[in-house]
Amino acid sequence: SDPLRLGIAGLGTVGAGVVKIVRQKATLLAERAGRPVVVSAVSARTRDKDRGVPLSSYAWEDDPVALATRDDVDVFVELMGGSDGPAKAAVEAALAAGKDVVTANKAMLAHHGQALAELAEANGAVLRFEAAVAGGIPVIKALTESLAGNDIQRVVGVMNGTCNYILTRMEDGGLTYEAAFAEADALGYLEADPTLDVGGIDAGHKLSLLAAIAFGTQVDFDAVELEGIGKVTIDDIRQAADMGFRIKLLGVSRMTGRGLEQSMAPCLVPAASPLGQLAGGTNMVVIEGDQVGQIVMRGAGAGEGPTASAVMGDVMDIARGLRVSTFGRPAGTLAGATPAKATAA
Ligand code: NAP
Ligand code: HSE
Repeated sequence: SDPLRLGIAGLGTVGAGVVKIVRQKATLLAERAGRPVVVSAVSARTRDKDRGVPLSSYAWEDDPVALATRDDVDVFVELMGGSDGPAKAAVEAALAAGKDVVTANKAMLAHHGQALAELAEANGAVLRFEAAVAGGIPVIKALTESLAGNDIQRVVGVMNGTCNYILTRMEDGGLTYEAAFAEADALGYLEADPTLDVGGIDAGHKLSLLAAIAFGTQVDFDAVELEGIGKVTIDDIRQAADMGFRIKLLGVSRMTGRGLEQSMAPCLVPAASPLGQLAGGTNMVVIEGDQVGQIVMRGAGAGEGPTASAVMGDVMDIARGLRVSTFGRPAGTLAGATPAKATAA
């Protein structure tokens, strides 16, 4: 069969991880997809940088837009980051050319996801972004496929590995905020602009995407009530621990009579609860559906392997011929998604 040919823009933590999987698991991926999955071309800011993986056999493009529209690229894999600028321009170019797109870029999707999804739909392209929410946890696939027979009632979770890592290292390891932050950086957890992490914005981006998928609404990041971990002190953490609690940056979304409620803020959770026990860069997403009851998903929320794993899940679905975008709606219905603030039925 014809190979599925990838163009990968961004060769940092996640991009290099994806190239490694494609190279190291070529035989397994071909068996599972029924066709080879190969890299045609790559792009990053700096060409001569050791990325821990050989790249010389791939074509190089300085311009991500040129990469996205190459004839030998079937799927444009966007792993540069940034809500606007080159990432958005290249994704738009790929979709306009009818090429499928896989991205981990929650900032771009939280601000432009609806427009990009409509562009994909208009051009018969698929837009998928499992890696954008909760790293390696297949939460989007669970919501769009396995739980499709449910009315979702609530989605709650810890969705930023950096904040969870910093908070737990400050408590368990007695580290200062600065030392815990440096460790999270070394583990590849941070956004290029880490104020997105500690300000709760990255987690808010993810919550707004999950909420749109769970409740069938348009993405409405501006409606998320946001507070980051910047004001949490070591004294707060100690006092919480003395009372049997831990502090977690917790997101909650649920549909109410006034529309969708979305909040992301530091919260006290019982230390002995599953949320309280969540350590390191781990994420946890709790989904409540009318039929299934409560589902708890837990796993690595950031870092090279887990995030590349989620990107590859989307790539493999496309390789197998699955023509479903992440928002999970059939072609022709996306533009009709309910605005998040509309009164619920
Ligand atoms: P990263 O390590 O900073 O890598 C970004 C890559 O994009 C670098 O290779 C950089 O090139 C390239 N790049 C940036 N601007 C570019 C431009 N204008 N033109 C061409 N290439 C450009 O970032 P990352 O951690 O891999 O994250 C990538 C994306 O995945 C982001 O959207 C992030 O939010 C998302 N994500 C990350 C994680 C994680 O754990 N790291 C998890 C989930 C989602 P150079 O290397 O030459 O500078
Ligand atoms: N910076 C993000 C985090 C990466 O720490 O969770 C994963 O989305």
